[in-house]
Amino acid sequence: MVVQQSLVIIKPDGLVKSLTGNIITALSETKLKIVGAKILKVSRELAEKHYEHLKSKPFFNELIDYIMGKYHTDRVLALVYHGEEAINKIREICGATNPEEASPISIRGKYGRINSKTKVFENVIHASDTEENAKREIQLWFSPSELTEIIYPIKTEFLTSPKLVWA
Ligand code: TYD
Repeated sequence: MVVQQSLVIIKPDGLVKSLTGNIITALSETKLKIVGAKILKVSRELAEKHYEHLKSKPFFNELIDYIMGKYHTDRVLALVYHGEEAINKIREICGATNPEEASPISIRGKYGRINSKTKVFENVIHASDTEENAKREIQLWFSPSELTEIIYPIKTEFLTSPKLVWA
C-alpha cells in the first residue's frame, strides 16, 4: 500500500448546489486525511494549465468557462487528501467522468448533469486520476506551506515579491 495525495476540487456547480457537505461526507468513507483546503477564484491561466491535456477538444473553451464559474459561481473549493491508495479510493467514490455513465450511487452519478447547451459534463467534482497527474495538479494548485503533510520534494527560496497583508 502506497501513501498518495490527491487533488479534489468541488467545482462551481458543486458549490452553487450546496453540495460541499455531502461531498466531504461521502469522501470521509475513505478514512483519508485532508491536508490542504482553500476556496479560490480560478484564473484563466490556472484553468488552462489544469486542463491542458484537453486543449484540442471541441468543448475546451466551455470547460474553461465552467471551471472559472461563468455558469454558476466564480469560486471552487480545492482540497488535498492524503493516505494509502488515496487516488483510486477517491476516484471510485466520484464515479465516471460522464455523469450519465457514472454509477448512480457515486458523487457524479448522483449530482452531475450534462449541460444541454454547452454539452459540458457538469460533474461537480474533480479528483486526480494518476500519481503523475496528482503531483502536477497539487503543485499547480497549492504551495508547500499550504499543506500540513508534504510528500513531494521542497526547497527554500528567499523571495522579495510584494504580497497583501492586513492594514
Ligand atoms: P477528463 O480529465 O477527461 O476527466 P476527469 O475529470 O474524470 O479526470 O476531463 C476533464 C473534465 O472535462 C471532466 O471532468 C468534464 C469535462 N469533459 C466534458 O465536458 N466532456 C467530455 O467529453 C470529457 C471527456 C470531459
